[in-house]
Amino acid sequence: MEQELARIGVSLPENLLDKFDEIITKRGYSSRSEGIRDAIRGYIRYYSWMSEVEGERVGTISLVYDHNQRGLVNSLLDIEHNFSKIIRSSLHMHISHDTCMEVLMVSGEGHDVKTVTEKLMTLKGVKHVKLTTIVPGEEI
Ligand code: NI
Repeated sequence: MEQELARIGVSLPENLLDKFDEIITKRGYSSRSEGIRDAIRGYIRYYSWMSEVEGERVGTISLVYDHNQRGLVNSLLDIEHNFSKIIRSSLHMHISHDTCMEVLMVSGEGHDVKTVTEKLMTLKGVKHVKLTTIVPGEEI
């Protein structure tokens, strides 16, 4: 049965919408709505995948952030120290005058890895967070 469609109105910064339109044009979407539906599906998939992260895991959390955001660098360091049992190592790159990229090497219980990732995602000034994990012993 065909799902009923609901209409929503969304306010976005113009540059974000421009970027989005550019991408959906390149990818050949027939409409902006179709692109947004796909983006929302991807968002939901990623979060449901993340909520299933459990058991022993090793992986990386990569994040991109604005280091001028007040208090952000300190909050990041606090999190990294509070979870030092899981976050074993980090790599930092200064991308530009304002932007930093950090890759955290993580190892430990999946629930804790997920908790750290979610904490990082909610920090103001963090623009991108991506978690990737594997189950040790099942690296194929
Ligand atoms: Ni930096």
